Amino acid sequence: MEITLKDAAARIRAGELVAFPTETVYGLGANALDAAAVAKIYEAKGRPATSPLIVHVASVSMASTLVAAWPPEAEALAQSFWPGPLTMVLPKKSHVPDIVTAGLPTVGVRMPEHPMALALIREAGVPIAAPSANRFTQLSPTTAEHVRETFGDAIPVLDGGPCRVGIESTVVSITAGKVALLRPGNISLDAISDALGRAPEEIAQAVAPSEGSSHSSPGMHERHYSPRTRLVLTNVPSEAGAYLFYAHAAKAARIFQLPNDPNEYAAHLYSALHELDREAWPVISVEPPPQTPEWAAVLDRLKRAAAK
Ligand code: TXA
Ligand code: MG
Repeated sequence: MEITLKDAAARIRAGELVAFPTETVYGLGANALDAAAVAKIYEAKGRPATSPLIVHVASVSMASTLVAAWPPEAEALAQSFWPGPLTMVLPKKSHVPDIVTAGLPTVGVRMPEHPMALALIREAGVPIAAPSANRFTQLSPTTAEHVRETFGDAIPVLDGGPCRVGIESTVVSITAGKVALLRPGNISLDAISDALGRAPEEIAQAVAPSEGSSHSSPGMHERHYSPRTRLVLTNVPSEAGAYLFYAHAAKAARIFQLPNDPNEYAAHLYSALHELDREAWPVISVEPPPQTPEWAAVLDRLKRAAAK
């Protein structure tokens, strides 16, 4: 069900859920200050209560109503990257409901750059808690159609076209002057260290998932962002399956080429996986991109999608 911006904002104020576009992926939003409304997000997604949500704001001043501290690092990163695909985890103010932060003393805040997301937050007049608008551990949606495929008419969707970035925001935590990268994304470790005037080595990095590793951050489940179809990272495509690749042609029943540029690749990754999922192949083989910093965010998502 498609709705207007005014209608969507009224629903948010009334404690209901609305799916809306951001530049990263579509979000499933509720009034962040209304615990009962936020509970509906967890219910709709089938998400465990141990996974904290990101709160979306339309300005730094709205963010400052949610966080108990705004250190110079936060100011520098907001100046450089907001509005945009960067989430900052900071100590929360006590009126931010525990259900938003999964009981943690910190809250993730982000000012998205998508004009429809900003307009929705402004029109609603409240910060909007929103995870990606998909069921828990499944593929994130990058079009309104992806959201409708998952939730049908149960959740109204604001249609803002395909998402520009295509993968979830970079998440950093800032505690006592220490900055840590919790989730890689379009805004790279190098870009963050440049903005802070610090060496990349000074920024702690969550370990990339590998076999048997445990979560590096609450809600960073190893298996995440997964298609229904089994996905394997390999240079050898299955002849019976689909092959998602970025550089070389190969023998497979279905060939799907993604761009060689990491940002372009990220922008198309989830739609490619949604499309191949619909075609119901026995397996999706994915040619691993290079192990270089530019590919870190894409590699993170691919490793999680491939985790059993
Ligand atoms: O791009 C995005 O970030 C999208 C759009 C809708 O903004 N949202 C998104 O939300 O990806 P979600 O719920 O799928 O991912 C939230 C991430 C998780 O990795 C979670 O661990 C982290 O943010 N996070 C949120 N609050 C946190 C906190 N207080 N401490 C540590 N990590 C936190
Ligand atoms: Mg998600």
